[in-house]
Amino acid sequence: MTTFDDIEERRPALARSYLELIKAQPGRPLAMFAPRRVGKTHFLDHDLAPAARQLKWLPVYADLWLQKSAPLEAINHALEEALDDVTVPRTKAGQLAKTAVKKIGALGASVDLGDAPARRPLPAAPELRLDALVVRLAAAANKPILLMLDEIQALGDVADGARIIATLRAVLHKRRDVLKSVFTGSSQEAMVRMLSTAGSPMYQFAQLLDFPVLGDEFLQQLADHYAQVHPGKSLPLADLRRVFARIGFKPRLMRDLVKSLSAEGLTDVDAGVKRFLLDDRQVAGWSALLQPHDLFDRAVLLVLARGVPPLGRETLDTLAKVQSVRPTVAKVRAAIERLRRAGLVTRAGSGPTAIDDPLFAEYLQSRTLDQLR
Ligand SMILES: Nc1ncnc2c1ncn2[C@@H]1O[C@H](COP(=O)(O)OP(=O)(O)OP(=O)(O)O)[C@@H](O)[C@H]1O
Ligand SMILES: [Mg+2]
Repeated sequence: MTTFDDIEERRPALARSYLELIKAQPGRPLAMFAPRRVGKTHFLDHDLAPAARQLKWLPVYADLWLQKSAPLEAINHALEEALDDVTVPRTKAGQLAKTAVKKIGALGASVDLGDAPARRPLPAAPELRLDALVVRLAAAANKPILLMLDEIQALGDVADGARIIATLRAVLHKRRDVLKSVFTGSSQEAMVRMLSTAGSPMYQFAQLLDFPVLGDEFLQQLADHYAQVHPGKSLPLADLRRVFARIGFKPRLMRDLVKSLSAEGLTDVDAGVKRFLLDDRQVAGWSALLQPHDLFDRAVLLVLARGVPPLGRETLDTLAKVQSVRPTVAKVRAAIERLRRAGLVTRAGSGPTAIDDPLFAEYLQSRTLDQLR
């Protein structure tokens, strides 16, 4: 290990335990939820996919957020790419070797290659295509598929989300011998809401898990590297633990924090967070998050950051100062919904709606509405 950026906590045991759970419940996906930036995607890529390969499963990854308008097509696309990887070797030479040579000219001058293996075209309708692709890919790879769907809550935001879930559910059940699946998401709320309008509670469909945040191993590696860079100085593990919780268990942020302490040889981790809160780049980042929202939405955000009930009478009185009249409850709700869609606020389980990023919340708490104008 040479730099702070190389520090990584691997979680092979957690990955294996997830795969065991999946194996034990054919046709039923795992759905792991955790706040933003705590390492869900990293886990899929660095821990779960390698563990699946060890079991001789074929991991296939699709990010539903990136293709928010067409999530089913995004899943199909990922499966098609995987099918290409399995059936069409990457090198030109490999491609030739797979295609039977039909005729070689007398002097070897003309080489006529046979037809590339052709199959019936895949169905065009995305629902049928998903089913056909799963069957074809599993057969071509001769392995079960582990379909990893990242940002599953994106389905809660599309018009035909419920239909897509129904399709997924049907295919997962029908192809349970060869298709395993794991979902990750940052908002359980959107999924639960959608599934309950579709008439089936989430837990019937998928096994819900709270994805665990990184622990001492990661923090210890940071402390060890710090001590190596600054002989004679150390960052107490207890301090790192406390601050890691304060910033919402976000590994990259934690790493950046320790890096900035290291740059100046400081060891007061809490003071480091304070400085971080005032750092120009950090503040610029937060301003950019606020930028698309009008003053009313910002005011609602401040209310949420302070932990005040957003629909309470006093809150509505306060918000009345932003605009000339007292806002309706519906207007406040609509603002919260916009902030939620922007990923700024979430609701964990049945708890109150709160700012997603605790450090951003701390920043907001230190501001007045005038400062956010
Ligand atoms: N096990 C780990 N060890 C070290 N760093 C990690 C680990 N997991 C995640 N990180 C770092 O934390 C950052 C966020 O990780 P990642 O993108 O996986 O989070 P996420 O939960 O998928 O976030 P989002 O909700 O935004 O999709 C990344 O920069 C990644 O390098
Ligand atoms: Mg992610």
